[in-house]
Amino acid sequence: MSRVLRIYEEVAADYDQVGPAFYEANGRELVNLVGLRAGDRVLDAGCGRGACLFPAADLVGPSGEVIGVDLSPAMVALVGAQAQARTPDGGQGLANVQVVVGDAQAPDFPAGSFDVVVSGFVLRLLPDPLAALRAYAELLRPGGRFGATIYAATFGEGWGEVRRVLSSYIPSKGVEVASPLDPASGLAGLLEGAGFGEVLVVDEPFDIWLADPDEWWRYMWASGYRGMMDGIPAADRERAGVAARAAAERLREPDGRLRLPQQVRYATATR
Ligand SMILES: C[S@@+](CC[C@H](N)C(=O)[O-])C[C@H]1O[C@@H](n2cnc3c(N)ncnc32)[C@H](O)[C@@H]1O
Repeated sequence: MSRVLRIYEEVAADYDQVGPAFYEANGRELVNLVGLRAGDRVLDAGCGRGACLFPAADLVGPSGEVIGVDLSPAMVALVGAQAQARTPDGGQGLANVQVVVGDAQAPDFPAGSFDVVVSGFVLRLLPDPLAALRAYAELLRPGGRFGATIYAATFGEGWGEVRRVLSSYIPSKGVEVASPLDPASGLAGLLEGAGFGEVLVVDEPFDIWLADPDEWWRYMWASGYRGMMDGIPAADRERAGVAARAAAERLREPDGRLRLPQQVRYATATR
């Protein structure tokens, strides 16, 4: 099992369930930006717990269809159950949603079979983001739309000491491989390289507000930060939690809460 798959299998049950539902808010924003229409056929590449999938299903309506693909069977099982539990107009489950286990690096669908492809916080997890973007361009009909989010920055101002404390508990940092998505212009360049036009990239600040250091600690395990947290050896997790929460304690705002500033990069493009 790959490291990415193991992490998302582990985090699936708690994913986006702690704190302010950061992914759900950004997924809704992304599908609004990409511009979905009633009747559209949409691929959500790396759908997770449905942050983009459900708002997309609302927008395309009963005449449209949204297919979610995720590498993690646990994510797919949970998001499938969520889709079944939704009962629009008194019906049973969302009839316009399908979720399948599959690889967002090279989704296996016929060329030109989608009006829109969206991908929320997945491109950085793929071995070759440019090849994936080329594959998405291929899956879109001419004039079809693409939209993605990636983290532009995590652990914003003020959080350096907390990050330092956490790092001190992570013995093996692995080999840091520079991503073509790292430079500010990286995502736009890859989209153009993949043949997309009308490329628009915007960075938006998003403050994650957490009730206190305990909720912050739980958030770190229930979000995309899980990949970093898993690097803390099991035997050290309790001590790391005590030390990191003590460092986070100093960051409380006057009302006692913690503000974890993120920068989200939104990209939209046309095939
Ligand atoms: C940070 S989560 C984002 C989930 C969702 N798109 C959202 O915005 O909340 C990343 C998701 O991508 C999935 N993933 C990672 N690599 C993948 C791949 N190669 N193919 C399909 N899904 C992948 C993970 O299992 C996880 O559900």
